Amino acid sequence: MKDDVRKLAADFKQFLSSREEDELIPAACSQAAASFVSKNQKQEDNHLTVAFVPPGKHPAHVKIPVQPLRADATPNTAVQDIPSPQPETEDMNAKEKQILLDQIAQEIHNCHRCPLGNTRLHAVPGEGNPAAKLMFIGEGPGFDEDHQGRPFIGRAGQLLDKMIAAMGLKREQVFIANIAKCHPMINPETPESRGNDRAPNAGEIAVCRKFLEQQIAAISPKYIVALGGVASKALISDTDSLGALRGKFHILHLDTVELKTPIKIIATFHPAALLRNPNWKKDAWADLQMVMKEMGLKRPQA
Ligand code: URA
Repeated sequence: MKDDVRKLAADFKQFLSSREEDELIPAACSQAAASFVSKNQKQEDNHLTVAFVPPGKHPAHVKIPVQPLRADATPNTAVQDIPSPQPETEDMNAKEKQILLDQIAQEIHNCHRCPLGNTRLHAVPGEGNPAAKLMFIGEGPGFDEDHQGRPFIGRAGQLLDKMIAAMGLKREQVFIANIAKCHPMINPETPESRGNDRAPNAGEIAVCRKFLEQQIAAISPKYIVALGGVASKALISDTDSLGALRGKFHILHLDTVELKTPIKIIATFHPAALLRNPNWKKDAWADLQMVMKEMGLKRPQA
C-alpha cells in the first residue's frame, strides 16, 4: 500500500509539471484516480486522500473513492468505472467548481452505461450556478429537455422558474439537475413523439447516481429541494412515501461521496404534479417557504 502511494505521488508530480494550470485540478485528479485504482483493485480502504499543490494555488486534498457503486447498481457499471475526482470543496472557487462540473458533464455526454444512453437525443447533465447555495433536483429529462440538452425547460420547467422567482431567486443563481441524465422513454423507438416520458427505473437511477453525487459534492450547496417522489426517494429514503418525507428537512447522505459540509434536503411536489393538481401548490409553497426562512430569502413584492 505504501509503495503504491509513493509511486502514485511520483507519477502525480511528473504529471502535474506537464499540465497547464487550468486543467490541473480535474485532469490531475483523474490521472491519480486512474493510476491508483488500476493498481489497487482489491485494496480494502475505500478512499485515498492525495495532497497536491497546483502552481500559484492553495494546497488541495483530493479524496479518491475506490469502492464500487451501490450494491444494487447493474453489474457492468459497478466495477470497471474509474471513479472521478472529488476535491474538498470549501477552498474551491466558482471557476474551479465549473471546471469540475464540465468534466462530469463530459462524462455524462460520453456515457452509454445503460440503454438510455443509446436512445437519448441529448444527455442533460444539469445547469446553473456552480457555487449555488440551493439545488433543485428533478426526476429525469422529458421531451423538451431531451431535444435541447437542458433541464426543466418544458411546461414543468416554466412552473419551476416561477417557483424559484417566488423565492426571490433567479434561475441562474441556483443549480438544476435530475436524478437521471437521459430521457427515460416509454417507447425508445419514437424519441420524436411527445407524451413518451416515464420515470427512471431503479437500475437507471443506480447507474446515474455517481454523476449526480459528484455534481452535488462539487457544488456543495447548503440546501437541496427534491422535486417529486422519484428524486425524494432516491435521495432521502426509498422506503417512505413523498407524503411522509415532505414538510421537514433531512440531512443528505450520499452513497458514493463523503460530504465535507452537511447539506439539508427537503422534499416537495414535482412541478408536473402541481400542473395536474393545482390544489397541491399551497403545500409546495409551504415547503419552499421553509427553505426561504433558513436562507433568509424574501418573496419579492409584486
Ligand atoms: N421533469 C423532470 O423531472 N426534469 C426535467 O428536466 C424536466 C421535467
